[in-house]
Amino acid sequence: MFKQLPATDLETVRVIVNGQSISVTKGMTVAATVLSQQQKYTRTTAISGSKRAPFCMMGVCYDCVMVINGKANQRACATYVEEGMQIEIQQGAGSDLVGNEL
Ligand code: FES
Repeated sequence: MFKQLPATDLETVRVIVNGQSISVTKGMTVAATVLSQQQKYTRTTAISGSKRAPFCMMGVCYDCVMVINGKANQRACATYVEEGMQIEIQQGAGSDLVGNEL
């Protein structure tokens, strides 16, 4: 799907994607990072549980929301990787919305 071009002189950071520690180029978005890892989706929907992946890559569609550093509903395409960042697939509405339904 997505593949990062090889570069040897770029600064890297370590992030944890679904429990796996990986090294990525500093300045990448979380969405680009997970797509480059061949991960096929970033979240599941709250009703049917169907899988969703980044679509617009510019912060509009919210299909890319993930749990980042323990906080749900973070747009992966609008968040840059940081050293030690914890990134997880979001299941359903995410813990921030549980219990807050109208
Ligand atoms: S991919 Fe559309 S908001 Fe992130």
